[in-house]
Order: sequence, then C-alpha cells, then structure tokens
Amino acid sequence: MKVIRTITELRQELSLMRKKQAIHSEETIVGLVPTMGYLHQGHASLMKAAREQSHIVVLSIFVNPIQFGPNEDFESYPRDEQRDLETARAEGVDIVFIPSVEEMYPQSTQTTIAVSGITEHLCGASRPGHFNGVTTVVSKLFNIVQPQKAFFGMKDAQQVAVIEQMVHDLNMPVDIIPCPIVREQDGLALSSRNVYLSAELRQEALVLSQALRAAQESVEIRTAVTAKDIRRLLHEHIGKSAHAVIDYAEIQAFPSLEPLADQEELNAYDDLLIALAVKFGKTRLIDNIRIQKM
Ligand code: PAJ
Repeated sequence: MKVIRTITELRQELSLMRKKQAIHSEETIVGLVPTMGYLHQGHASLMKAAREQSHIVVLSIFVNPIQFGPNEDFESYPRDEQRDLETARAEGVDIVFIPSVEEMYPQSTQTTIAVSGITEHLCGASRPGHFNGVTTVVSKLFNIVQPQKAFFGMKDAQQVAVIEQMVHDLNMPVDIIPCPIVREQDGLALSSRNVYLSAELRQEALVLSQALRAAQESVEIRTAVTAKDIRRLLHEHIGKSAHAVIDYAEIQAFPSLEPLADQEELNAYDDLLIALAVKFGKTRLIDNIRIQKM
C-alpha cells in the first residue's frame, strides 16, 4: 500500500499502476473512496465495495476545512492517521492519498463548485456553505484521481444526491456507487463523531434509529398516511430523549429532496427519504431511512 501526500506523486503512481494493470485487462477501473479519516466500519464497507468493483483502490483522507462552518468542529475533528492506515491496509487499499490543506487549497485558489436546488434543504439549510465545500473538494479529488467509480455512504444521503447532481450537470465521467448505512448492533449509525458522545448521550442517541424504524413501520402498516403523521411520530420518538435538540426531522422525495407538504399522502411517492439531524449536547448526529416502493 502506498501512502502519498502530493498531487504530482499521486498522478505519477496512478499512471504507473494503470500501465501495469493494462497488461492484464482491457479496461482499468480505478475506485475512489473519499473520507475525512478516523475510519470505522462504515468507511470499511465502502473500501470493501471498491475492492470488489475496481482494479485499483484509492482512499483519500482529508479533513476538508471549507465544508465546516466557522462555529463547527474542524479543529477538533478526530484524527488518527496510524490507525487509519492499518484499517486501509486490512481492506486491501492500493493508495492512500493524505494531502495537506496547502496542497489542496494553495493561496491562489479562486474556484468553487456550487450545486443549487437540492442543497437548499436539510443539512444545506442548517449548514450554509457546507455542500459547496463538499462539491468543491470532491470535484478536485475526481480531477486528481480520475476514478471510473466513486463510493459514498447513504449515511449522508443528501451528499449522495448532491454529488450525483453535480456529476450529471458537469458531465463528469464517474459512476457514483451509493453504499448502505452500517450500524452498531443496537442501531446507532456509525460516525466518526460518535466518539464525542458521553455514555449517557450515546444511549440517548438510539432514539434516532428507533424513530426511523418506527416511521418506516408505520408507513408499511399504513398507520402513517401523510407527511404530517411522519413528522409527528418522529418528534414523539425523539422527544423521549431528554437532551435531544432537533435540527430537522423531515420527509421528502428522493433524490430531488423536495419537502412534502403536511397533508401530502405518502403513497403518491415511489421513493421517500426520512432524514434526521439532532444535537445531543454539542454533537450533531444525522441518520436516515429510505422507503422505496417495490
Ligand atoms: P466522512 O464523514 O469521513 O465519510 C466518508 C464516507 O463514508 C461518506 O461517503 C459517508 O457517507 C460514509 N459513511 C460514514 N458513515 C457511514 C456509515 N455508518 N455507513 C456507511 N457509510 C458511511 O462524508 C465525508 O467524509 C466528506 O463529506 C467527504 C465526502 C469525504 C468530502 O470531504
């Protein structure tokens, strides 16, 4: 496994690897897994999917300053490079790209990528500028690595929708592969930010997955018929936690993320996303569930 920190070196190494691979196969598939590190089994599932579907797997680890707001946790975001490298090695990654902030954003930088529309809802509404930071860094990574496939987790469902929109709009020659949410046994979605939680808040955070499962079930057995029914149910469940402060508890069409009006009937939609962002103390957690008609 190669650990590379500069764009020039990464390009040289990839060109070499592509040439070697071309001897064995007509088409070389490079799979990219973009992350901010502090890797867990959710990230590992993306690396596994990439390993299965690509000849060359590139993992990027970069805590991207421009996707954090001024009062967010950029400085304190958890980092552990040695452990991350062990995880990457165990998953059979070929190249780990760990650029510095200066390497990715030299002083001269004047360009950003912005997707409108779907970035106005959910996390886009509560974290202004966040998705511009995400689309800018992801398009830079796409240009640097030139992957045929890029792997993203549905844990960040809006991120997947935004990146798919960008790839479509800008004709980027990359397939976006969405991967399912990995959870702890008790239902909590894995997140690098879970380490911030005290034992008490960690326990309370279970209301997220419980609320989502209850919502899914009530759609299936039709005790929830309208968007308002779902919103009420989510608020009731999350309200059981003393410390939970809801940022949003929403239901919308996927992937447009158009919010449903209160009286809208759920069975008019083939693909719905129920999404939550809730603060437990200083820690903001997100989770979601997708409900698709068969
Ligand atoms: P990060 O939060 O490190 O997540 C990297 C990738 O891992 C994302 O695609 C995310 O959806 C996925 N992931 C996180 N937790 C997961 C879980 N429990 N199950 C499945 N997948 C999970 O998302 C980012 O970094 C950044 O915004 C990035 C795309 C790297 C751009 O900076």
